[in-house]
Amino acid sequence: MYGGRAVTSNAYQWLHALHVGCVVLSLSGFAMRATMREFASPRLDARAWRILPHVIDTVLLASAVAMVWLAWWPLPAWILAKIVALVAYVGFGRIALSHSTRPRERRLALLAAVIAAAWIVSAALTKSACPPC
Ligand code: HEM
Repeated sequence: MYGGRAVTSNAYQWLHALHVGCVVLSLSGFAMRATMREFASPRLDARAWRILPHVIDTVLLASAVAMVWLAWWPLPAWILAKIVALVAYVGFGRIALSHSTRPRERRLALLAAVIAAAWIVSAALTKSACPPC
C-alpha cells in the first residue's frame, strides 16, 4: 500500500521506484561534485557534470509531482516540509559548489545542504514534517 489515498496501482509503484532511484543518483552526484569542488578538480567543469544533474533532478521532481497528484493531494505537512527543505538544499548546494565562494563559507554551505538533504530523506521515510522532534 502506498500513498495518502492508499494507492495500490502499478503506476504509483513505478513512480516511487523512479523517484527513489533518482534520489540515490542525485545525492551521490552532489557528493561527488562537492568532493571535486573541495579539491578544485577541473573535471567539475566537464559537460556531463553540467547537464546530467539537471536531467536527474527534473525526473526526480516530475516523479514527485506525479505521486502527489495520484495520492497526496491536498499536501500533507511532511511534503510541505520537503519542499521548504528542497529550496534550502538547492540554495546552499549552489553556494557550496560555486567557484566564487570562499572556502570557509563553502564548507558552511555544504554542511547546511547536507542537513537539508537529511531532512528531506527523513521526512519522506517517517512521513513527519519534523523527523527529529
Ligand atoms: C519537493 C519535491 C518532492 C516531493 C513533492 C516529494 C514527494 C514524495 C512522495 C509523494 C513520496 C512517496 C511517499 C510514499 O509513497 O510513501 C516520496 C518518497 C521519497 N522521497 Fe520525495 N519528494 C520530493 C523531493 C525529494 C528529494 C529532493 C529527495 C531527496 C533528495 C526525496 C527523497 C525521497 C525518499 C528517500 C522517498 C522514499 C520514502 C519511502 O520509501 O518511504 N524526495 N517523495
